[in-house]
Amino acid sequence: MNELNVKLSLAPGADPERAERLRALFPMGEGEADGLTLELDGEGLSLRWEDQVLRGDFARLLPRLRGGVSGELLVRAAKIKNLPGQQTVLDATAGLGEDSFLLAAAGFRVKMYERNPVIGLLLADALERAGRRSELAEIAGRMELVVGDSIEAMKELKQAPDVILLDPMFPERQKSALVKKKLQIIQKLEIPCNDERELLATAMAVGARRLVIKRPPKGPWLAGFKPDYSIQGKAVRFDCVAAPADKLNKLLAGGK
Ligand SMILES: C[S@@+](CC[C@H](N)C(=O)[O-])C[C@H]1O[C@@H](n2cnc3c(N)ncnc32)[C@H](O)[C@@H]1O
Repeated sequence: MNELNVKLSLAPGADPERAERLRALFPMGEGEADGLTLELDGEGLSLRWEDQVLRGDFARLLPRLRGGVSGELLVRAAKIKNLPGQQTVLDATAGLGEDSFLLAAAGFRVKMYERNPVIGLLLADALERAGRRSELAEIAGRMELVVGDSIEAMKELKQAPDVILLDPMFPERQKSALVKKKLQIIQKLEIPCNDERELLATAMAVGARRLVIKRPPKGPWLAGFKPDYSIQGKAVRFDCVAAPADKLNKLLAGGK
């Protein structure tokens, strides 16, 4: 992300020591070639571009929790019946961690990978803030973040999680985001996922019990690979593959 030359600015009320810790995590430039600024204020970190503000915010999801999360399509897609103990999830494309948060709220232990350092910083900040709020802290305690590439990490995994979640940004969505002003700030950051086949193959090889792939309701299968079944919603679809390692050969053979 260095090429974005994101600048860190301190608003009144910002903790200068926290700013130093952030600078140590991610070397930020001085210029504003893309007009993007990471701003630290008394509340935390946000990314700003023109009049748009992007902040990780789990509190926003609290109303969804009140209705109970077990009915969430994602939770239904990820929950493995009759599995004793706490279920584990590897979110290989964490973004701002909202899906991970819903899963953690449903009791899953979630390990998140985010390779974009700016998004990673926003997510780290959201997690830290959640840890200080009583109604979010227990859930955030079940979430762990690694800022790095999940493809590399999954190749080195010693123990498979129960479930792997994939929600990569894909080029089509990038294009459509262009017309939606509120998505332009994300557009500026997110690199299209051009390695979806490698992401899928690596995730399948891990040996998880299930793979859950988030797609737009009418979007194509990830890398053209036919899932075992799908849970279809109005705004989203979850494609599920059971025992994915057993089906890796089919993917490698280019089969559907
Ligand atoms: C569509 S967003 C995910 C949104 C997320 N499900 C949520 O609920 O907020 C996709 C994210 O995956 C990240 N990503 C794509 N490929 C990745 C990889 N191989 N490793 C880690 N992160 C990746 C992108 O940087 C982007 O932030």
